Amino acid sequence: MNPHRVLHCYSPKGGSGKTMLALTLAGALAQHGRVLVVDYDPNGNDGGALRWAAQARDCDRPTSFMVSPAMPRRPEDFDVILIDHAPGRPARVTDGQVIIPTTLDPGTYFSARRALDVLRKRKPVLVANRVRLDRAEPRRLLAQLPGTLALSDRAIFASAYGVGATIWDEDAGLRNAQAARAEFQPVVDAVLARAGFPVRVPGEAA
Ligand SMILES: Nc1ncnc2c1ncn2[C@@H]1O[C@H](COP(=O)(O)OP(=O)(O)OP(=O)(O)O)[C@@H](O)[C@H]1O
Ligand SMILES: [Mg+2]
Repeated sequence: MNPHRVLHCYSPKGGSGKTMLALTLAGALAQHGRVLVVDYDPNGNDGGALRWAAQARDCDRPTSFMVSPAMPRRPEDFDVILIDHAPGRPARVTDGQVIIPTTLDPGTYFSARRALDVLRKRKPVLVANRVRLDRAEPRRLLAQLPGTLALSDRAIFASAYGVGATIWDEDAGLRNAQAARAEFQPVVDAVLARAGFPVRVPGEAA
């Protein structure tokens, strides 16, 4: 397996968007190949990928990718493996791509900066998440980070989680999905480019 096709969604602080990124990226990448999400935090309080998969089963929703509590015996059976990490130290971030979501409150942001520094040899990608540009503090921080990928605070992510869907599921009846997809697409493209998949132009047929 191409090592860049293992993708760690990691952040030191809880609630910054690791699970959301892992699931939303998985939904997008499943259009390109066989995708597995590994939930390294199955007992976490806030619900991780395995709990999302249970929601999908409860809603009778087929999922376009698999979710498991451990790395597979045969990683080569998958084109991409995304790891939904527990918050904390990056001890298990050992290979592949690293994507670090952060909210733009100072505590979470500065922990993310430290993690970027610790993992700098792996060239991690920072994603500012739950961004509210109507507030001065996040606006100021984001202005200091030109070119950083950013995702707005959008109710659709919690709605999708609640029904075991992702923003890419056409039949989930999610509101404002188009705007969320357009904003998320640069995150997908950044990952695809590093993983060596052909990058699909948004709007082009798959
Ligand atoms: N861009 C967003 N807009 C609105 N809500 C979001 C966004 N991203 C994540 N959320 C919501 O914020 C909460 C925390 O997100 P998530 O569970 O992905 O974080 P996490 O880093 O995995 O947390 P933990 O460390 O507890 O596992 C969830 O309720 C999720 O639905
Ligand atoms: Mg999580």
